[in-house]
Amino acid sequence: MENLTIVDHPLVQHKLTIMRDKDTSTASFRRLLEEIAHLLCYEVTRDLETQTIDIQTPMGPMQAPALKGKKLVFASILRAGNGLLSGMLDLVPSARVAHIGLYRDPETLQAVEYYFKAPTDIADRLVIVVDPMLATANSAVSAIDKLKERGANNIRFLCLLAAPEGVRRFTEAHPDVPIFTASLDEKLNDHGYIMPGLGDAGDRMYGTR
Ligand code: PRP
Ligand code: URA
Repeated sequence: MENLTIVDHPLVQHKLTIMRDKDTSTASFRRLLEEIAHLLCYEVTRDLETQTIDIQTPMGPMQAPALKGKKLVFASILRAGNGLLSGMLDLVPSARVAHIGLYRDPETLQAVEYYFKAPTDIADRLVIVVDPMLATANSAVSAIDKLKERGANNIRFLCLLAAPEGVRRFTEAHPDVPIFTASLDEKLNDHGYIMPGLGDAGDRMYGTR
């Protein structure tokens, strides 16, 4: 799985363990997802290019590094992607945002689209797609299909948990898109849920079940 980076930082793993616990409250779950998003954002942006610019410190002139190129796009797969998105925006407040509304049909496990809005110039920007769960990968593959149709050609995918089945399917469909995750779990169950996982990310974030 050469396209896969597992972020095994102890803080990420510790926070993830609390999130997995079924007794963790909705408020804590949401806060932890945002905190982990900070740490994952750090990793997914680690190799961004910088350029030297001229500034004046209070002590005098200096040539200092600054991010090069156009602002990033964070593309959130609704709903649960928004939990990662808000943490990412804490670190990169100038990022542009795309929203991709998808839900998984519980019978077929196919992704059903209900909303799409992205900056018009995504062809010129790095797009980081965020969704906590990569299960069958139907949602992620469909979101990235759509972004590519609109011209995106430099894409990364960031999630909290991935299933091996999802990583394989994703990599077959989009071999050019690297995946960053906090954990590669064991497998999917018969209903397409990640095992041992953390349950339904959207429901746990918003207390809808
Ligand atoms: C969840 C999750 C992913 C998708 C992953 O969303 O946030 O988008 O399932 O499953 P997949 O890899 O098998 O497609 P869900 O459809 O439950 O929608 P929600 O975020 O609105 O709850
Ligand atoms: N979506 C979730 O929210 N959780 C899973 O385990 C699989 C898909």
